[in-house]
Amino acid sequence: MIAMPRLLACGATLLAALILTIGDADARWFQVAGVQKDLDQLVELLRVKKVNQAKVKAQVAAMQKNHELEDIMKVYKPTKSKGIGWNPAKKGVGDGIESRIFALGTKQELTQAQLQAEKGLLLRTAYYNLALFEINKAFGPPKQFRKVAKWHAANAEMKSGSEGVITSVKANDPAALKKAMAKIGSGCTHCHALFTDPVKKDLEDLFQLLHREKVDRPKVNALIATMKTNHALDEIMAKVYKPTHRMGIGFDPAKQNPGDGIEKRLSDLGTRRELTKAELLAEKDLLLRAAYYNLTIYEVTKAFAPAKAKGPRNPIAWNRHNDEIKAGTEKMIAAIEANDPKTLKKALGRVNASCNECHSIFR
Ligand code: HEC
Ligand code: HEC
Repeated sequence: MIAMPRLLACGATLLAALILTIGDADARWFQVAGVQKDLDQLVELLRVKKVNQAKVKAQVAAMQKNHELEDIMKVYKPTKSKGIGWNPAKKGVGDGIESRIFALGTKQELTQAQLQAEKGLLLRTAYYNLALFEINKAFGPPKQFRKVAKWHAANAEMKSGSEGVITSVKANDPAALKKAMAKIGSGCTHCHALFTDPVKKDLEDLFQLLHREKVDRPKVNALIATMKTNHALDEIMAKVYKPTHRMGIGFDPAKQNPGDGIEKRLSDLGTRRELTKAELLAEKDLLLRAAYYNLTIYEVTKAFAPAKAKGPRNPIAWNRHNDEIKAGTEKMIAAIEANDPKTLKKALGRVNASCNECHSIFR
């Protein structure tokens, strides 16, 4: 791992370089480590004549404890995005299970020979879906949503489609297969339409784009432009900084409680008793996560700068305060890496002051 202070000297390449350090140690926010293994174990339990429900329940409960639902869902993505891929023996662009499900449900029917050739992979996907059904059933909808019955209905639709895939594959019936795949796709879509959080998703995507070894600027700019069209700035800021019970992402997503917002944690760390070195070390990953979210917000906020001045509300002041957030956050990261509580507190004092100064003018 590269030492942080030296990176800080690199100026423009800072964000790109951060990724190198976040790469291994802090990967838990966007990697699906362990998910596939757990999922495979669940599939094994489901793919037998007489399913042992107690074992299934225990496995699902363990997964619920150890993983976030969205990390589990990532198995559907292409292998390039850490999904498991439609065909593990043939990795390639666009090889995600999700896109294959939709293709099989909407495009031309397979021939019987093609169905036979893909038989193993079709069944594999059907059983992954059945495993996901059990998981969704246990998780229920994310806390902020209350339409529990609709959650289970969409989940059941996916299950029934998956059972249809198994039957049609065994019967070598391409027309029935296509119908069953369409039903699965409709279950996925119905659930996502009602239960996903577009602001959070965009923020997480941006967070990840900014933490690549080589930041793809055009992609970053395109996503920020989309966010600007689709979301208001206060929605975006609230998503990052508010407590989880007010739909924020929370300082520690694994430990939700009423005062768990990132804003509050940053403010406490800037004003209350200094952490001990041991405490700082224990919170290192979460503090870095919060810091990288500050840098993500910095990029978004920049795009929301007012076009022209209106009294004190001018683009220069906007950008100055936003730049202060970035500078303070970079100091914060260096202090975390150096395990230096005193500097951390000072850096956070500066960050908090910049939040407040900008709000006092523009909010
Ligand atoms: C019962 C509800 C439900 C069903 C059914 C469902 N999903 Fe999801 N899925 C979710 C939720 C909720 C999230 C997002 C979690 C979040 O945003 O915090 C999600 C997220 C995802 C993600 C994004 C993960 C990421 O972070 O990028 C993928 C990919 C995905 N689902 C694929 C599928 C596929 C494919 C199916 C159908 C085979 C499916 N899902 C069925 C609820 C569901
Ligand atoms: C460059 C200016 C600027 C900076 C810097 C800034 N904000 Fe904001 N923030 C705003 C504006 C403007 C709004 C309100 C947008 C609106 O109402 O449309 C806002 C809204 C918010 C909201 C949601 C509003 C609410 O109370 O529901 C939160 C939470 C928030 N900011 C937290 C922070 C934190 C924490 C920081 C520092 C780490 C910060 N902001 C830095 C300009 C800024």
